[in-house]
Amino acid sequence: MRAVELKPGLYWVGGIDWDLRSFHGYLTPRGTTYNAYLIKDEKIVLVDTVKHYLFDEMLSRIKEVVDPAKIDYLVVNHVEMDHSGSVPKVMEVAPGAKVVTSPNGKKGLLRHYRREWDFMVVASGEELPIGRRTLKFVHTPMVHWPDSMVTYIPEEKVLLSNDAFGQHIASAERFDDGLGWDVVHEEAAKYYANIVLPYGEQVNKALDVVAQLPLEMIAPSHGLIWRTYLARILPVYRRWANHETERKALVIYDTMWGATKRIALALREGLEDAGVAVTVRCLQTCHISEIVPDVLVSKAILIGTPTLNNGMLPTVSAFLTYLRGLRPQKRVGFAFGSYGWGGQGAKEVRAAMEAMGWAVPLDVLNIQYAPDDAELASARAAGRRLAGVI
Ligand code: FEO
Repeated sequence: MRAVELKPGLYWVGGIDWDLRSFHGYLTPRGTTYNAYLIKDEKIVLVDTVKHYLFDEMLSRIKEVVDPAKIDYLVVNHVEMDHSGSVPKVMEVAPGAKVVTSPNGKKGLLRHYRREWDFMVVASGEELPIGRRTLKFVHTPMVHWPDSMVTYIPEEKVLLSNDAFGQHIASAERFDDGLGWDVVHEEAAKYYANIVLPYGEQVNKALDVVAQLPLEMIAPSHGLIWRTYLARILPVYRRWANHETERKALVIYDTMWGATKRIALALREGLEDAGVAVTVRCLQTCHISEIVPDVLVSKAILIGTPTLNNGMLPTVSAFLTYLRGLRPQKRVGFAFGSYGWGGQGAKEVRAAMEAMGWAVPLDVLNIQYAPDDAELASARAAGRRLAGVI
């Protein structure tokens, strides 16, 4: 396994998870990487590790550069086990290493691994000289866990950003330009929508810090390293953090006998008549983790369900549970559906939208059994009215 020299003395030594297809429920059709970085200076530093089953792959890359026993510092930017899973094994091969982490990082490592390693707990802004270079640590709590921090190397103008700016991509390429903007942006958006979306406020604080730093590379803990598209991804991250969207609509539905689908398509026609671009996702064919990237960019979110057993379909309920956790803000919602008697499903959807703090300016469109032509016309009209408020 070859280490990749990013800059003289700075190496990528991570692991490539070609086969990963689900990251705790988030579908990852392109696999992923766990990026670890090795800095060879007067001190030898390993920044982050890999998921436990890729330890040998990482170790062979480290061995290409240095004797692992010579590692002086192991920086743990984040305790989640895709990055810390090999810490115990690293500490076996480098027993003299100090474990450098945030206060919450130490707590998390103790809870997960129950080992009293030689911890060096660092404050936000603290610096660690390692010879020709300095490591500067900045806490970024909740991007993605309370322990998260980033490591900046001012002499190299490189930010080791951990989960921030990550993408789930397994590739022989290490840099963004190796696959091109479209792929890396698509996967960065999917990653942001599924992992980082709830933490926009904290991302904004991290971006404020990043804005002060001279930067040539952002090297995250998943996927490709940003260099060519650095100036493009930073303002995009700011827009995502601010919950800024485009004048687009996203229609999400499930259907039992096709009535809710017909209403969904009529709503789409109305929105399109009014010049709004519409994406349609059926929960029978699209996984929830593949729909939230559309949520990331869409101002209007329309969700439809039939009523089943006095409530929503379970697929719609599961999607709303996932969405509630991701906390997208500044959206305009619209609930619709079909029913035989009762009609609680669509009403529950509307209540869930209001509970998320969305504007829901139009009444629920709830149609009994199957829509007739007049009812489909009213659905198209509702689409046009919704277009008028986004
Ligand atoms: Fe890639 Fe929050 O771990």
